[in-house]
Amino acid sequence: MRKILIVGNWKMHLNASQASLLLHRLQERIPGRRDIEIVLAPSMLSLQPLSVQVDRRKFRLASQNAYWRDEGPFTGEVSFTMIRDLVSYAIVGHSERRHVFNEDLETIKNKMAAAVRNEIMPILCVGETKQDRDDGETKQVLHDQLMSALSNLTAGEVQDSVIAYEPVWAISDGSNYTEHIVAKPHQVAEAVNYIRRYVTDVFGEKAGKQVRVLYGGSTVPEIVSGFLDVEGVDGFLVGGASLNYQVFTDIIEAAWRWQRKGGKE
Ligand code: PGA
Repeated sequence: MRKILIVGNWKMHLNASQASLLLHRLQERIPGRRDIEIVLAPSMLSLQPLSVQVDRRKFRLASQNAYWRDEGPFTGEVSFTMIRDLVSYAIVGHSERRHVFNEDLETIKNKMAAAVRNEIMPILCVGETKQDRDDGETKQVLHDQLMSALSNLTAGEVQDSVIAYEPVWAISDGSNYTEHIVAKPHQVAEAVNYIRRYVTDVFGEKAGKQVRVLYGGSTVPEIVSGFLDVEGVDGFLVGGASLNYQVFTDIIEAAWRWQRKGGKE
C-alpha cells in the first residue's frame, strides 16, 4: 500500500565533487527496485550537477530547504520555484532549521505551501525537544507543528506529503551518530500514531491512511527492521549514516530484507 521511503539527508557536508563521488558509489551498489523509494538530499550547491548524474530509476532528489517566496530581493536565498525541475521532494521544517535558524511556525507553513505550489512533495519534520518530552508536552508540540504546517493544504496535498517524526533529542549532533541515543520503538509508535490520527481527524480517512510517516534520529542499519515493524512507520530520514555509502546501503538492504520477509502483515 504505502511504499517504503528512505531519505538520506547529507546536511552541510560534502563539496560538489565529494557529493558526486558518493552518488557514484551508491549507484554502483544499489540496484533499482520499485518497491522501495530512495531519496537523496544533498546541499543546494550539488543539486544541479547531481540532477544530471542521478539514475532516476534508483534515486530521486530532495532539497534540504528553500525559501517560500518565488523570487525577489531576498539575498542569499534560493526559491522552490528555482529548484522545481531538479527535485521531487523538499525537506521542510527540519529541527536544525527551526532551532539553529529560528524558523517559526509561520515560515514553515509558508514553505509547505510554496513546495506544494511548485509541485514538490514536502517532507515535513516534526518532533519535540528533550525539555518538551520531560514536561509531558510531546503531543502538544506535535499538534502545534502539524496544525500550523498543514493548515494551508488540501486533503489531497496532505495525502501526497511525507511527515518525518524526528524527536530532537534523538538527532545526532554530527560527532558520532552510532553512539547517539535512538528513540525507543514504543515512543515512536505513540508519536506516529498521534500524527496519523491528527491527519485522519483533520483531513479524513484517506489522507490518514496514505500519508507516509518516517522516523528520523540516529538511524543505523540495526534498528531498521524493528522500526518498520512499528505500526504506521513507512521508512527513515537518515542523517549521519547516509554519508557513508556502505552504512546507507546496509540500511536499504535491511529494509529490503524486512520487506521480503513479508513486511507488515
Ligand atoms: P541523524 O539525523 O540520523 O544524524 O540523527 C537525522 C536528521 O536530522 O534528519
